[in-house]
Amino acid sequence: MRVLITGAAGFIGAALADALLARGDSVIGIDNCNDYYDPALKFDRIARVRENGGDFTFHQLDFADMAAVEAALGGAEFDSIVHLGAQAGVRYSLENPAAYVQSNLVGHANMLEVARHRGVAHMVYASSSSVYGGNEKLPFSVDDRADHPVSLYAATKRADEMLSESYAHLYRIPLTGLRFFTVYGPWGRPDMAMWIFTRKILAGEPIPVFNKGEMWRDFTYIDDIIAGVVAALDNPPADDGKVKAGGSSKPHALYNIGNHRSEKLTRLIELIGEACGREVAIDWQPMQKGDVTRTYADIEAIQRDLGYAPTTSIDVGVPRFVEWYREYTGA
Ligand SMILES: NC(=O)c1ccc[n+]([C@@H]2O[C@H](COP(=O)([O-])OP(=O)(O)OC[C@H]3O[C@@H](n4cnc5c(N)ncnc54)[C@H](O)[C@@H]3O)[C@@H](O)[C@H]2O)c1
Repeated sequence: MRVLITGAAGFIGAALADALLARGDSVIGIDNCNDYYDPALKFDRIARVRENGGDFTFHQLDFADMAAVEAALGGAEFDSIVHLGAQAGVRYSLENPAAYVQSNLVGHANMLEVARHRGVAHMVYASSSSVYGGNEKLPFSVDDRADHPVSLYAATKRADEMLSESYAHLYRIPLTGLRFFTVYGPWGRPDMAMWIFTRKILAGEPIPVFNKGEMWRDFTYIDDIIAGVVAALDNPPADDGKVKAGGSSKPHALYNIGNHRSEKLTRLIELIGEACGREVAIDWQPMQKGDVTRTYADIEAIQRDLGYAPTTSIDVGVPRFVEWYREYTGA
């Protein structure tokens, strides 16, 4: 299969490129390698993908710029798209909303247009657990309403699902939206709690913990996520009028992709402290605007339709992340 991956220099995109190349697929990657976090890590990921071998081409471009997309992809052939590129991060959406509108709204609409005009067999795209906002019914199910986002980031991801639904209806493009739940692991993101906590603990600095530690997250290890993305890619929803996960009767499915375990943040901190072999000092902070206290994925739909079965608990995954972090950063 020939697959176009957007956000290929990102945490999940680069890991997906590795997995697809390893099974013999051809991969075209695009990413603008922006400086939301250190672009050196993005270039290192691309170098790693290249070193692993296989049929990989990479274009550094902004997918919110349709002319640039068309110029780069003009002569390229691909069967499917996995659209992972986005302006990620909940808190930064309060600081720089324009980045979210450009990448997540204009960019998503552009990728739907590419899917439409190139007649691709399937486009899988990234959504987020944040679409559930402050829902109190747990675990979060794809059948629950998700109409009350508490951040602009969440609103753009929910809007992407709506734009996709209209394209599945109008142009019958098979589309699968994946609501990721806090992904972590080697080659992860420096803006996320696991990286920040590890960096500060190793530097002997207190770590900021919000809402007095009364926070829970469904942490999902990168290898489990990639297994789920690949299973989704290989199983496009049929245009058969039957109701799909998430409620669409068009060829559009929505899945949660989490670990189905909601872990208290203080447990995560203990594990990082143990893996670092350091005492942990905590700087208690109030709840942050835009944040949610709890995420917890109901993964019944993805288990049933795609055989997804996460296997990595944080007890196993956190030490793996810390080991990689120390090797990569030399800390
Ligand atoms: N990691 C998580 O816990 C998590 C949770 C929920 C949802 N997601 C979603 O999953 C996807 C992948 O996340 P990630 O953790 O790999 O994030 P990431 O930031 O590491 O990767 C996203 C990549 O997209 C690129 N990008 C952003 N805007 C672009 C544009 N306009 N043109 C071209 N490239 C652009 C960035 O440079 C980056 O490399 C994102 O859509 C994110 O919103 C991630």
